[in-house]
Amino acid sequence: MVNVYPRLLGRTVRSGMPRVPMIRPFASAFALITTLIFGTALPMSGADGKIQVSDFGKTSEGVSVFKYVLTNSKGAEAAVTNYGATLIALKVPDRDGKIGDVVLGYDNVESYEKGTSYFGGTIGRYGNRIAKGQFTLDGKMFQLPTNDGPNCLHGGKIGFNKRVWAGVDRSRANAQVLELSYTSEDGEEGFPGKLQVRVTYTLAQDKNELRIDYEATTDKDTVINLTNHSYFNLTGTPSKDILQHELVLDARQFTPVDATLIPTGELRAVAGTPFDFSKATAIGARINQDDEQLKFGRGYDHNWVLERTAKGGLQVAAEVFEPSSGRVLNVLTTEPGIQFYSGNFLDGTAVGKGGQTYGHRTGLCLETQHFPDSPNHANFPSTELKPGQTYRTTTVLRFSIRK
Ligand code: BGC
Repeated sequence: MVNVYPRLLGRTVRSGMPRVPMIRPFASAFALITTLIFGTALPMSGADGKIQVSDFGKTSEGVSVFKYVLTNSKGAEAAVTNYGATLIALKVPDRDGKIGDVVLGYDNVESYEKGTSYFGGTIGRYGNRIAKGQFTLDGKMFQLPTNDGPNCLHGGKIGFNKRVWAGVDRSRANAQVLELSYTSEDGEEGFPGKLQVRVTYTLAQDKNELRIDYEATTDKDTVINLTNHSYFNLTGTPSKDILQHELVLDARQFTPVDATLIPTGELRAVAGTPFDFSKATAIGARINQDDEQLKFGRGYDHNWVLERTAKGGLQVAAEVFEPSSGRVLNVLTTEPGIQFYSGNFLDGTAVGKGGQTYGHRTGLCLETQHFPDSPNHANFPSTELKPGQTYRTTTVLRFSIRK
């Protein structure tokens, strides 16, 4: 059994704690006292090589949330908030060494609270869709909220991306490490079992690589499918769309869907279809083809079945190359599937960082995952988690440059 709250230190906010708004002087005094008692606390600045922490505003319920900035020696930066364990910004160099922010997001917590696009959020308890919000476990039927037509999407009405997590700085010599934890109560959004979840962001010191580790335990049989919902735009200029980005997916099959984007259960070969990304292909090259699956998704919004070797572990799942900047993103994961979503529902109404609006297909998501609606498909890898087991998955975002 993993203790997800080994140390609750310094300026951490734990959901479920009394919702007392933190006033700045009080917060500093609190940080100082916990430092004296426990010998460590989240630093106020990164001067000592640790994560920089700053206020990120208050939720509508008055809970203070924070922005954590992880940096490395290569000029990369990852900004995360404990609201939704959300990746706010990810800054990496282009081929000329110019640093650019390659993910979409917002400047303040209010926008994340109101937002409906899941920018950078940690998605849970069940990423992607569950048909009609229903599944049966141990002979018992569970009804989840339906928030996407007839289906449950990304954990229901208030998913993990809309919860306040507790943050702890776990930085070490070769990496800055932010650990975020959250307890999802038995019955939250209709799911069985009290789930203790931990998401850890690790930015390596000497390479532009952000690692995300997920861990969870439960006290009753449940289902779980955690992912990160970052929208990438490797140009660093999200006024441009992502159609010129070239994509490779290490998959020979995908899971076709019905009109409500629920998998039919079939594993269909991608060969000869617009879903074949086994060789680098521009996202825009076939996206408007006359294809029923593309029509259902209004573009790409599907799960690919990753080719995994028997040894398991972390394996490359996807590569994205953006020709104008030279930026390359490799996604590695322990998961069996990946949802490639081409930002089809972005429509320019969301006002993001620096007042930038995000138009149609200006971001692409690569959500590493178990397959959508797995609880209702016995032929898909299982998403069940039982007491005594520990759910563990890892995804790595590795950045490089192509001249
Ligand atoms: C889903 C899309 C959905 C989007 C929400 C994706 O993971 O597959 O259908 O619109 O999340 O932003």
